[in-house]
Amino acid sequence: MPTRAWFPTYIYHEPLLRAGLARFNAELADECHRIRDYDAAGRRWSAKNYPGGYTSYASLNQLHKISSTFADLERRITRHVRRYAAQLDMDLRGRTVQMTDFWVNLMPEHAAHSLHLHPLSFISGTYYVVTPPGCAGLKFEDPRLDRFMAAPPKTAQARPANRPHITYPAQAGHVILFESWLRHEVAANVTTAERISVSFNYNWS
Ligand code: NI
Repeated sequence: MPTRAWFPTYIYHEPLLRAGLARFNAELADECHRIRDYDAAGRRWSAKNYPGGYTSYASLNQLHKISSTFADLERRITRHVRRYAAQLDMDLRGRTVQMTDFWVNLMPEHAAHSLHLHPLSFISGTYYVVTPPGCAGLKFEDPRLDRFMAAPPKTAQARPANRPHITYPAQAGHVILFESWLRHEVAANVTTAERISVSFNYNWS
């Protein structure tokens, strides 16, 4: 073919561990609820900025520094971040890769998280703790969308890589990583059960 693809956008999706996730996630879910119950400031912030749900994003956002469960999770996630960075051909020799933020997201029925990106970091991601069947996945937007002003629409059969959006299903036990500038959103939870995830940012120095 005379046409080749360049400048790809990479998204990483893998199980956190090969085994033992069910028990780990059950304990993590309990801890997420304890954090919500303790975090009055976060509940107030969420009532205004995260309707119907709870996030510790603006209150307890360095959970890896205060919880051994989250510190353990940080170590495991960092291995995936290094693999992902290697896939991106990033030169991190002699440099440190550090998790800067780590927070909880509880999304009961109807809670949604509108389109956003993650400033002041280079790799971000989410680890899924509880994902009721049928709950919303993570929807990414083509970062070049604003440059397609005059482009015709895509065909119904367009290859996934040529479509303007891609949605990854939320899968408990999986970690998803993306470059922090990539815009994404979570549609409303249409199930009656609570969806639980933890999200994080990484920086390097
Ligand atoms: Ni996000």
